[in-house]
Amino acid sequence: MQPRSDVLAALRGRSVVLCVTGGISAYKAVEVCRRLVDAGAHVAPVLTDDAQQFVGATTFSALASEPARTSLFAGPEAIPHTRLGQGADLVVVAPATAKVIGKYAHGISDDLVTATLLATRAPVLVAPAMHTEMWEHPAVVDNLALLAARGVHVVPPESGRLAGGDVGAGRLAAPERIVAAAAEVLSRSGDLADLRVVVTAGGTREPIDPVRYIGNRSSGKMGYAIADAAAARGADVVLVTTVHRPVHPRVRVEAVVTADEMAAATLAAAESADVVVMAAAVADFRPKAAAPAKLKKADGVPEIVLEPTPDILRLLGERKRADQYLVGFAAETDDVQENAAAKLAAKRVDLMVGNDVRSEDSGFEVDTNRAVLLDADGGVEEFGLVTKVRLADLILDRVRTPHPRQGAPE
Ligand code: PMT
Repeated sequence: MQPRSDVLAALRGRSVVLCVTGGISAYKAVEVCRRLVDAGAHVAPVLTDDAQQFVGATTFSALASEPARTSLFAGPEAIPHTRLGQGADLVVVAPATAKVIGKYAHGISDDLVTATLLATRAPVLVAPAMHTEMWEHPAVVDNLALLAARGVHVVPPESGRLAGGDVGAGRLAAPERIVAAAAEVLSRSGDLADLRVVVTAGGTREPIDPVRYIGNRSSGKMGYAIADAAAARGADVVLVTTVHRPVHPRVRVEAVVTADEMAAATLAAAESADVVVMAAAVADFRPKAAAPAKLKKADGVPEIVLEPTPDILRLLGERKRADQYLVGFAAETDDVQENAAAKLAAKRVDLMVGNDVRSEDSGFEVDTNRAVLLDADGGVEEFGLVTKVRLADLILDRVRTPHPRQGAPE
């Protein structure tokens, strides 16, 4: 599908450093370069030595806005990586090999591409391409997760024919997808810079005794995706969390365990926040009194009396300032929209994200989600299967520009 030209408008007049690394799909980077230039971007190509095994620098020099660079030392400039990095509005790495992803994740800068990546404060978009075995290797998965947590944008590869005739996941995303993603990153970069955002993540643990607790399956992935995305878009972010994962360096993390601790930290942070997103799975009940010592099997089956925990979202709704935007999540196993709408009204939130936690590819622990966004004005937007990273941006888009009233003229 061709991207609509208005989507590409964000590229007009922007400086894009296009880093090409050494995979067979480097030839497709030529098309990425051409499309970026056609969309009005100023494109500076940089090729690694490995990339030049597959495609020539002359091709990029002919198509781009300035001659292709291939070395930290060979050109006329003394320190080309700082000029490139500091001058960029966006750095795109396409294709990004397992090698460059690994070097970038671990701060190794031994060529012009990796030095430029470390010398930039501009958003970075990587489009990985490699064989399926490499794409699925835990080292690559972890390195990409680390980069994503630092706010690096990823255009995942597609499935299809790979070098050598193999078929599987790992083929470079189509050039039009990479260019559309570049435009999207540019259109969002810094758009939340004026906002203070509080996000909660993970499931609370309510102690039964010093070693056991009542908990739930929340991995924190959804909350972390929102915190990462908000920070990458310039917001000042506080993350109140029960779980620990790599996170964008500008996110301030407040570690909590129980619903009481999450309530105290979230309500305090919310006082000065513009946006609060309750993505955590807070236990609804806790043992009335946690045993001071480990319960012994020999003493028989314990009777545990439960009591309700504070409903943090409800408290946030009651205390909400007129200029504050409150986002809740509804974890539902059936009638997602109806149940989410009831929670939206009961807890006085501005946006409720109803998510289906019964299907295997949505809700707890997985990287994807199926969600419906309901706003207090009756706006309804349903999404099929999307990554949590993508859903995070869609939620933050509503924070910036609330959804129009359902049925109201655009
Ligand atoms: O962490 P992951 O593995 O990525 O999974 C993501 C998720 C499924 C946890 C997340 O997408 C999600 O749905 N979070 C909300 C889970 C939940 O507690 O839903 P609920 O329908 O029970 O509660 C509704 C809202 O009230 C939620 O925003 C919840 O944070 C809030 N709540 C609930 C109980 C309570 N005592 N205090 C609260 O603030």
